[in-house]
Amino acid sequence: MKPNISNTKQELAQDFSGYLATLLASKETAHIALSGGSTPKVVFDELAENFTEDIDWGKIHLYWGDERCVPPTNADSNYKMTVDHLISKISIPDENIHRIRGEADPRDEAERYAGLLQAKLPKKNGVPQFDLVILGMGDDGHTASIFPHEIGLWHSKKHCEVAVHPDSGQKRISITGSLINHAAAVAFLVTGENKAEKVGEILGKRGNYQKYPASLVHPKSGGLLWFLDKAAAQGIV
Ligand code: 6PG
Repeated sequence: MKPNISNTKQELAQDFSGYLATLLASKETAHIALSGGSTPKVVFDELAENFTEDIDWGKIHLYWGDERCVPPTNADSNYKMTVDHLISKISIPDENIHRIRGEADPRDEAERYAGLLQAKLPKKNGVPQFDLVILGMGDDGHTASIFPHEIGLWHSKKHCEVAVHPDSGQKRISITGSLINHAAAVAFLVTGENKAEKVGEILGKRGNYQKYPASLVHPKSGGLLWFLDKAAAQGIV
């Protein structure tokens, strides 16, 4: 499907929020995996400020596609970012929030979270299926916390793995391709000129694009949509 290209980050937030409200309207319950980093902040702010009437958060379960191995109060925490920009501003039951425990032992937590997903998510062909996985893409073409230097983690048989940030060495917990490509829908939210080259290579299938984990996102459902701002879409020919 052609990417959704917005003029600005703010417009992308509005476009994605409208897409999400439409996706959820027909569902009794929805299980959504959130991405981290900075891009989601403007989207979460938009959802919290302008879509409270359009989305019944009481029927939504929130999970994370990845988390930094830090406490939930740490500025690096994806959970903390989501609380600050979304959860603290909407009415969603505590029991619907399924955070990755960044403060726990990484290996133990990867196992625990995989078990939680197995228990909580609806199954399709016996495999846990998210209704929606929201992803970002790093400047290096990583997605969730699957980085190019560990791209093999994408193909893990495990649903959650421990990853390591290539520069900082920070440990991360990440869901793997087994869950991402099994999702009913996947939405990439990518903004900024610094992403344009990789976006162009991946969407244009140019050069050695398959070395980027983000290029491996192909949900079997066919439900993949890229939300880009104009700056990130510059590399598309
Ligand atoms: C994380 C993310 C990661 C993020 C990309 C893009 O924990 O950092 O889940 O995959 O989506 O790095 O991050 P920005 O939105 O900050 O560019």
